[in-house]
Amino acid sequence: MQASTLAALKELALQCARSAGELSLKRMKEPFTVEYKTSASDLVTAVDKEVENHVIQMILARFPDHGILGEESAHAEDYKQYDTLWVIDPIDGTTNFVHQQINFSVSIAVYHKGEGMVGAVYDPSRDELFYAVKGEGAFLNDRPLQVNRAVSLEQALLCTSVFWNKRAEQIGVDLIVKKLAGKVRGMRLLGSAALEMAYVAAGRLDGYVSMQLNAWDFGAARIIVEEAGGRVTTMMGTPLPYDQKSSVMACNPTFYEELQHYLKSEQTDTDVPSQN
Ligand code: IPD
Ligand code: CA
Ligand code: CA
Ligand code: CA
Repeated sequence: MQASTLAALKELALQCARSAGELSLKRMKEPFTVEYKTSASDLVTAVDKEVENHVIQMILARFPDHGILGEESAHAEDYKQYDTLWVIDPIDGTTNFVHQQINFSVSIAVYHKGEGMVGAVYDPSRDELFYAVKGEGAFLNDRPLQVNRAVSLEQALLCTSVFWNKRAEQIGVDLIVKKLAGKVRGMRLLGSAALEMAYVAAGRLDGYVSMQLNAWDFGAARIIVEEAGGRVTTMMGTPLPYDQKSSVMACNPTFYEELQHYLKSEQTDTDVPSQN
């Protein structure tokens, strides 16, 4: 890809992330409708839909020939026909948006022929923009990010998203997380996968694991973690897809092998059914 094209993608992705975040904050102060998608634990608000439309309009106004894979319009058309694909989550952490009014983010990624080019995760409540451009490093606002602290598994502060329902109990997800929590210094659960992964890039967390996320949850943050020097794979250690659901493991490289070894010794079955 030409340097000028990459620069234009970066500029637009950062603009979209900031603009979407500002719109979410503005709408949060007004009344908005909340609906159940599949259950009372799976919410969507009018703001999720409005913000996604807003981002799509911004992208198509500049690049009408690009494809879009967004959470709220995921089935709208066949995105596979496009070389350049924007993978977007307008509000990652909708439950936090509704209940806490903090700890949510907007996630915007650009992939070209399946390769991550630009990732932006914006936390509007704290005005923190995490972003990365392939080959150019990762940043928090204008500060470069580098995952370089040496950490062993027992010294690690980990983070996870997990669904605590009956099905999870049946397949033992709760037990796997509980056992892993006993191996590490601490386990956190913030409620926005994109933000949690971005925190790994920023060194606020040492690792993040999830049995299953959608492509729009991890699309941007995986580029940010990798550009910061972290390792991102599935929990089985295989490469992450860019447009499919997957388990995710993002961490400081110093204990990646140790964590992999632990997960494999537990014979973690990551092929779990979707929560939503
Ligand atoms: C959710 C958040 C959450 C994760 C869920 C996701 P949403 O995204 O990332 O942290 O545990 O699996 O679905 O629905 O709030 O965009
Ligand atoms: Ca959702
Ligand atoms: Ca999400
Ligand atoms: Ca979302």
